[in-house]
Amino acid sequence: MPTKDEKSCNVLLIGAGNLGEALLDGMLKNDIDVAVSVRTHDKQLKLSEYYPSLDIKVSDDEIDITGKDVILAVKPNTFYGMKFVGEAKSFISVMAKVPLCDIRDRVSAGFYARAMPNIAAKHEKSVTAITGDEEIRVNTVRLFSSIGRGVWVDSEDELNIATALAGSGPAFLAVVAEAMVDGAVRVGLKRALAEELTEGLFDGFTALLENSKASKIKEDVMSPKGTTAAGLFELESNAVRASFMKAVEAAYIKASKV
Ligand SMILES: NC(=O)c1ccc[n+]([C@@H]2O[C@H](COP(=O)([O-])OP(=O)(O)OC[C@H]3O[C@@H](n4cnc5c(N)ncnc54)[C@H](OP(=O)(O)O)[C@@H]3O)[C@@H](O)[C@H]2O)c1
Repeated sequence: MPTKDEKSCNVLLIGAGNLGEALLDGMLKNDIDVAVSVRTHDKQLKLSEYYPSLDIKVSDDEIDITGKDVILAVKPNTFYGMKFVGEAKSFISVMAKVPLCDIRDRVSAGFYARAMPNIAAKHEKSVTAITGDEEIRVNTVRLFSSIGRGVWVDSEDELNIATALAGSGPAFLAVVAEAMVDGAVRVGLKRALAEELTEGLFDGFTALLENSKASKIKEDVMSPKGTTAAGLFELESNAVRASFMKAVEAAYIKASKV
């Protein structure tokens, strides 16, 4: 993607909802020169209050994508009703489920890619799986690094697995965090304190995981006849590991269906 230094304004972000706005924010902070296409004048006004010098267009029935590096961040149902005019330089979709073959059928572009960010894009911490035409691999990975970390995967099947792992993952981990807080409250800890400790736990765990494998972290904490061993035995007795594996599989199957 071009930066302001390259004196180009070819990136067109279509859709500035939850994810689109997070992407926009990340791109602007990283000096990527971008214009935005929104659906209503209200949205245009709202965005221009935050970003006074941003080029914000209100889209017509047909959106001209000629010569642009387009990022499409609308809902899949919206996409199937949209009309694009001209040929984009590149076309990157962040829509879940919509396969590249459907995008190639409906949109004319030099190159195509799909990316799957997660909700942590809001805090520039999304790990985003990306796949598509090799020719735009480097630029697309760089683009999504503006909202966290971009990771190239080799196929749409891998993208669907990544969607289950990293896209749905925040919800799975939220259940873990919530259950651990409830567990501590159940045996007597104040909720606010349990929440603070859990937040710190996840923060510290991120650092541990960056420097070690999950299995090693578990082994390091689990001492003979210890408290952790007692807790882990309960988890294993309730098939927690199999439940997580099945959750990832269920999300993958869902992500693979158009
Ligand atoms: N949210 C996530 O964490 C996440 C993660 C991975 C992938 N995704 C994918 O990202 C896409 C967007 O998700 P979202 O959560 O950001 O949805 P969203 O908040 O509903 O945003 C969609 C945006 O598209 C706009 N839009 C609709 N038609 C348009 C048009 N013709 N021209 C310009 N803008 C138009 C909508 O505007 P109006 O509100 O005015 O209709 C809305 O602001 C989805 O396909 C989803 O699968 C989302």
